[in-house]
Amino acid sequence: MTDRAGGQRSEREQWASQTGFVLATIGSAVGLGNIWRFAYVAGENGGAVFLLVYLVFVAAIGVPLVIAELTLGRRSGADAVSAFEAGEPGSLWRFAGWLPVAGCVYILSYYTVIAGWAVKYFLGAATGALWEEAEAGYGAFFEGFIAEPFEPIAWQAVMLVIAVAVVSAGVAKGIERLNLWLMPLLALIVVALAAFAVTLPGSGAGLAFLFAPDVSQFGNPRLYVAALGQAFFSIGVGMAIFITYGGYMTRRQPIPASALIIVAGDTLFAIVAGIAIFPTVFALGGDPAAGPRLAFITLPQIFIEMPGGRLIGPAFFFLLSAAALTSIVSLMEVPVATLIGRLGLGRRPATVLIGGVSLAVGVPSALSYGVLADVTLLGLPVLDAVDFLGSNVLLPVAGLLVALAMGWRFAGRTVIAEAGLAGALGHVWLWLIKIVVPAAIVLIVVRSLTAS
Ligand code: PHE
Repeated sequence: MTDRAGGQRSEREQWASQTGFVLATIGSAVGLGNIWRFAYVAGENGGAVFLLVYLVFVAAIGVPLVIAELTLGRRSGADAVSAFEAGEPGSLWRFAGWLPVAGCVYILSYYTVIAGWAVKYFLGAATGALWEEAEAGYGAFFEGFIAEPFEPIAWQAVMLVIAVAVVSAGVAKGIERLNLWLMPLLALIVVALAAFAVTLPGSGAGLAFLFAPDVSQFGNPRLYVAALGQAFFSIGVGMAIFITYGGYMTRRQPIPASALIIVAGDTLFAIVAGIAIFPTVFALGGDPAAGPRLAFITLPQIFIEMPGGRLIGPAFFFLLSAAALTSIVSLMEVPVATLIGRLGLGRRPATVLIGGVSLAVGVPSALSYGVLADVTLLGLPVLDAVDFLGSNVLLPVAGLLVALAMGWRFAGRTVIAEAGLAGALGHVWLWLIKIVVPAAIVLIVVRSLTAS
């Protein structure tokens, strides 16, 4: 058993550089959420209006919470559970830490299923097999694939094995290194895809959809919960990732500046991905409100028809798979660090265990359109319901606990100093964390639950 309260700090792993830390946290934030989920949720909720509300939530709720999580992590230098417990063994606050630890496994369980689809599509697009299978259209292709009893689980396992290999290698040697070369590459790919998309004839309608708001849609009550859920999911806040990654920071690394760069990077990535996707969808007459299938049915159909599509296709699905991988490793690191810190497990066994549990818990999601096609939760297929509850309830509630812990349990000047916020900014942040963020989360979540 390791000493939980303090002695652990010197043995803890640390980031090798500030750049590596920032890229690893952006790698965690940028994922399926920015491409697959942003596109379909924005598509279903009016495009530009959604983007506006989303930006407000990201700035007013996302940034303060990322600062709070990083500060909570660095002040304790420990895993999520110990960070909330804050050296008071047995305190009820430890449950606030177990929630995101379990939550990470919950998200991994279905996130890796979708990541597995992305890997299959990438290999298919790169080898050309994907283009040959399209006679009956990608709707039929996708339906056929996700209805298989084993194939989706096999691809999910492929993704988990790669992630286990990275996370077992450690924080600096595994996670940081992966992101150091992958994130700049992904940024290049998404910019290139967007630059190409806007040259397509008819792309203007897609840009207008994303950037010219139809104000009559502000009255749509679903818009607000969708934007809040997407902000939590895309930044990845609430799941103790910034607590855990913050625990590997040194005192010299700046928290507020890092939080701003991480959130701005994540948001910019989603917008550029939107510029790659919506003009393409509109130029070729697709439906932007196609839901979760947008990336897997609408887009391949477009790639096969458009000039250059056979190059764009593999690039897009590589982007999707690799962005998913860098998020999966962060989702694994939270429970892995907790197993190491609380139960004294070695890094490798802890990682293999979390990988195996995520695979097992993910089986219902993997089978939700095939063997379990008749089963619905909240009137949705299993995977869709798990995603809905995860983003719109679990993440906001976990974020609420972070805000309450930082705003009330550890309140005051020391927290502001620890966060490295000077003067008025510090007070604005504390006020947001104490009152505005919790109130907004409660209002929006309660309203969405009672409305449905
Ligand atoms: N932010 C990741 C994405 O956009 C997903 C994620 C959610 C990561 C929650 C960590 C925690 O895909």
